[in-house]
Amino acid sequence: MKKGKLDHCLSIEDLRQAARRRAHKMVFDYIDGGADDEKTLFENTSAFDKYSLMFRILAGVEKIDTSVTLLGQKMDLPFFCSPSAGNRLFHTQGERAVATAAAQAGVIYSLSTLSSVPLEEIAALTTGPKWFQLYVWKDRVLVKEMLDRARAAGYRALILTVDLPISGNRERDPRNGLTIPPHYGPRQVFEALKAPFWTYDFLTSAPINYANLSAKTSAVSLADFVAQQLNADFNWRDAEWLLGEWGGPAVIKGVVRVDDARRAIETGFNAVIISNHGGRQLDHSPAPIDVLEEIVQAVGDRAEIILDSGVRRGTDVLTALSLGAKAVSFARPYLYGLAAGGEAGVKRALDIMAEAVRRDMALLGVRSISELDASFVRKNTAF
Ligand SMILES: Cc1cc2nc3c(=O)[nH]c(=O)nc-3n(C[C@H](O)[C@H](O)[C@H](O)COP(=O)(O)O)c2cc1C
Repeated sequence: MKKGKLDHCLSIEDLRQAARRRAHKMVFDYIDGGADDEKTLFENTSAFDKYSLMFRILAGVEKIDTSVTLLGQKMDLPFFCSPSAGNRLFHTQGERAVATAAAQAGVIYSLSTLSSVPLEEIAALTTGPKWFQLYVWKDRVLVKEMLDRARAAGYRALILTVDLPISGNRERDPRNGLTIPPHYGPRQVFEALKAPFWTYDFLTSAPINYANLSAKTSAVSLADFVAQQLNADFNWRDAEWLLGEWGGPAVIKGVVRVDDARRAIETGFNAVIISNHGGRQLDHSPAPIDVLEEIVQAVGDRAEIILDSGVRRGTDVLTALSLGAKAVSFARPYLYGLAAGGEAGVKRALDIMAEAVRRDMALLGVRSISELDASFVRKNTAF
């Protein structure tokens, strides 16, 4: 999709529709879908409807400062890009596009273990701040090797994702026959013909693989790969071992319970990402916005709390920050942009969110993020 057309996308939902039009069906559904009946996927965004924003008047809002500091790292905006696997499947520019757009926007980029571009290449691409996300493999040598590579390449913090001991039941993927790299049966070919730009890019670019593990993985389905490699036995003691091996700032991703948040901090994590993996893991798990306040009250003075899953609007960002999150993160908003138009699409997604945060701060009556507090939010008791 050309830049001019991307400018007609005014919201993340517009980018979602543009992604649906450009990408192969199995690719769009892999981004868009959730687990089981997708109740949590739906709830993640709709839960924000419960919260009203109590705007303040006559606050002198000509100058707006959207910056925040996260684990000592200043960001121009109070959001960043959550890690996501295999981005070259969505658009040939893949993780390169997202890392570049994130650096231009002045926000942290977090690279997935399962990226389709090597972590060293992404590290060298921009001077922007980067975090590295880890899934834990059975093979500890491989884990140590990954940590060493990430540290040497300059990733500042480690994100340990803990809500994926095994893969969730995402029924859209097997229905569509999704594998990485894709296999082609008659139905996939039919769908490919309906997505000619995606198909042309796919056929004329290098094969897609998990670039950080390429020697060890080939054309296996995502579910098979995760089932073979993930260490479902991983526990708190292993997490302690991991933090010792890493020796730097560490973030735990995929927490929804107060007791787990407490234990994470006692174990040595510096930040907690409240997340249900975008509704892709346990269906009927709560929307992060609904558990944010209790976790902030319990541990917010000892760790930085980040909210992830379901953020689509500037008002969502401000609701979360008012209830005590230090920042938010999201994946689908930039992935829809990537699938719709590569780097320009990711930039469009981040611009839409940045403009929305700025506009909504002015409308809410705050000039800087530090002014936000619970007085700006009222939970509607009808829910
Ligand atoms: C296509 C896709 C791939 C993802 N891959 C990863 C991953 O490799 N590692 C990870 O920690 N989370 C992964 N996630 C979860 C995101 O980091 C994030 O938690 C979730 O998407 C947030 O919800 P949102 O998409 O509604 O913003 C992925 C999400 C999507 C949509």
